[in-house]
Amino acid sequence: MISMWKIIFERNFGTMPKVLVTGASGLLGRAILALLKEENWNVVGLGYSRISQGLIKCDLRDREAVSALLKKEKPDFIIHCAAERAPDKVENHYEETVLLNVKATEYLASIAKELNSRLIYISTDYVFDGVNPPYKIDDKPNPLNKYGQSKLEGEKATMEVNPDACILRIPILYGPVERIDESAVTVLLNCIKDKKPITLSHYEKRYPVNVRDIAKILRDLIMKIDKDPSISGIFQWSGKERLTKYEMAMLIAEGLNLPFDHISPDDKAVSGASRPYNALMDNSRLEELGISHHTGFKEGIKACLEFLEYF
Ligand SMILES: NC(=O)c1ccc[n+]([C@@H]2O[C@H](COP(=O)([O-])OP(=O)(O)OC[C@H]3O[C@@H](n4cnc5c(N)ncnc54)[C@H](OP(=O)(O)O)[C@@H]3O)[C@@H](O)[C@H]2O)c1
Repeated sequence: MISMWKIIFERNFGTMPKVLVTGASGLLGRAILALLKEENWNVVGLGYSRISQGLIKCDLRDREAVSALLKKEKPDFIIHCAAERAPDKVENHYEETVLLNVKATEYLASIAKELNSRLIYISTDYVFDGVNPPYKIDDKPNPLNKYGQSKLEGEKATMEVNPDACILRIPILYGPVERIDESAVTVLLNCIKDKKPITLSHYEKRYPVNVRDIAKILRDLIMKIDKDPSISGIFQWSGKERLTKYEMAMLIAEGLNLPFDHISPDDKAVSGASRPYNALMDNSRLEELGISHHTGFKEGIKACLEFLEYF
C-alpha cells in the first residue's frame, strides 16, 4: 500500500529521501523507526548490542565500519540518536562516554558532510544549568553534569566539522519501553506499585515529551530541510507541561487507577549527578516552521504503561 506521506512528499518535494537512524534500538530511535516505517519512508536503523527486526549492527566508535556502512547506504538524512545518556553512569565513566558521545559523533558528522547527507544530532536540555529559563537556542549553555558536558561537546564537534548539520535539543523522554527502567519516567511505576512509603523529587521542574511526538517533529523537520536546504543549526523542543517527578508519578497513578497515598514529595534536589533546576527550552524556532506535536502527559504515559505485562 502506498502511504499518504509518500504521496504528499513526492507530490511536493520529489522522491522520498532515505533516512538512517543511529541508536534505532533505543527508546527514541525505535519510535522514529516505527513512525517512518508506518509511513513507508525509505529508512534504515542501526543498533549495537540489541539487534532485531532488520536493524544493522554497527559500533559507531569503529571508524572504518561507520565509513563503509555510510558509503554503502548513502542516506540523504542521518538522525543521530545513539549515545550514553544515563547521567550517573557518565559521571563515573567519562572517558568511555566521550568516545561515543563526542568522538563518534564528530566522525559521523564529518562523513555525513563528505557524503552530502544531512545530519540531525539529538542533544539535551542538560546542556543548560536551569537557572534562567526559558532558554533560547543561542543562550549560553552551562552543563551541570558530565553527561550534559559530553552532549554539548558533541554539539560543538558536529557544528565544527559540519556547519550544515542540525541539532535538536530535547528534554526527559517517555514512550513504549522494553524494560520499566528504560525511561526515567516509566520507572516511577515501580515506586507506585511497591506500595512502600517513599519520597519522590518535587524539586526539579521537567517538561517530559513522548518519543512519538519527537519522531513526528523530526519527520516534519526533514521535510522542511528537504524543501529548503539552507535550514541548519540548533532547534529545541520542551514538552508543554511542567512537572516534577512527584507530579509525574501522581499522574501515572491517576491514569492507571493505582494508590498514591504512600508517596510524598521531597523538596530537595535529587542525589547523584547534579541536574538543572528548570531547563525549559524555547520552542519557537520549530513553531515558526509550523512544527509542533504534543501528547498530554497523563494520556500519553497511560497508553505506554497500561498494556505492560507488569500488571
Ligand atoms: N532518554 C531521555 O530521557 C533523553 C533526554 C534528552 C535527550 N536524550 C538524547 O536522545 C538520544 C536518544 O536517547 P535514548 O533515550 O533513545 O537512548 P537509549 O535508549 O539509551 O539508546 C541508546 C542507543 O545508543 C546505542 N549505542 C550505544 N552504544 C553504541 C555504540 N558503541 N555504537 C552504536 N550504537 C550505540 C544503543 O544501541 P544498543 O542498545 O543496541 O546497544 C541504543 O540504540 C540520545 O542522544 C540522548 O542523549 C534522551
